[in-house]
Amino acid sequence: VAQCCCTVACCILRVCTADSCLQNSARAYSVVPAPRDSAEKEMMHRMLRVDHAGEYGANRIYAGQMAVLGRSRTGPLIQQMWDQEKKHLSKFNEILAENRVRPTALLPLWNLAGFVLGASTALLGKEGAMACTVAVEESISEHYNSQIRALMESDPERYTELLQVIKEFRDDEMDHHDTGLEHDAESLPGYWLLKNAIQLGCKAAIYVSQRV
Ligand SMILES: [Fe+2]
Ligand SMILES: [Fe+2]
Repeated sequence: VAQCCCTVACCILRVCTADSCLQNSARAYSVVPAPRDSAEKEMMHRMLRVDHAGEYGANRIYAGQMAVLGRSRTGPLIQQMWDQEKKHLSKFNEILAENRVRPTALLPLWNLAGFVLGASTALLGKEGAMACTVAVEESISEHYNSQIRALMESDPERYTELLQVIKEFRDDEMDHHDTGLEHDAESLPGYWLLKNAIQLGCKAAIYVSQRV
């Protein structure tokens, strides 16, 4: 009888109850189930890679906003949202490591692009920063919602824990989106144009981060 830790029961009983335990005995416990086959592994890796990239980018956007507006009256509000993004990112860092998922090769690009987007919209003032937040957070929420739908359609029980994480983060992103609206995002001249341009960029970033 081999020892493993792929399920809670395995850990407590110190015995393997399924074949998959033997294959995955070296794998740390994670909210993501051990992949059944290469198709599921591929699907999961794409999903986790893009989520990680999104949280990474969000962190850089808030860093850019703080570089410009950190000392203004809006500073504490932005800091509050950034702190939540830090938690999201560290969770995905953990999940990627546990499941040996390679992050996107484009992190250096998202590092720069995120910061520039955050800082440049913040230079338009508080309303600019909030318009950026509304655009980005709406895109991330929609992205998480489509993942939630996909996992629910596939096998809600199998992905219970991962779904819990994604739903919690989605709710945070919705809060950020609402915060942006409450703080006059829409009063920025050219709001719709800017919002649409940013969301087009988000769509492109999501598309490439799944693949590269
Ligand atoms: Fe986030
Ligand atoms: Fe967010």
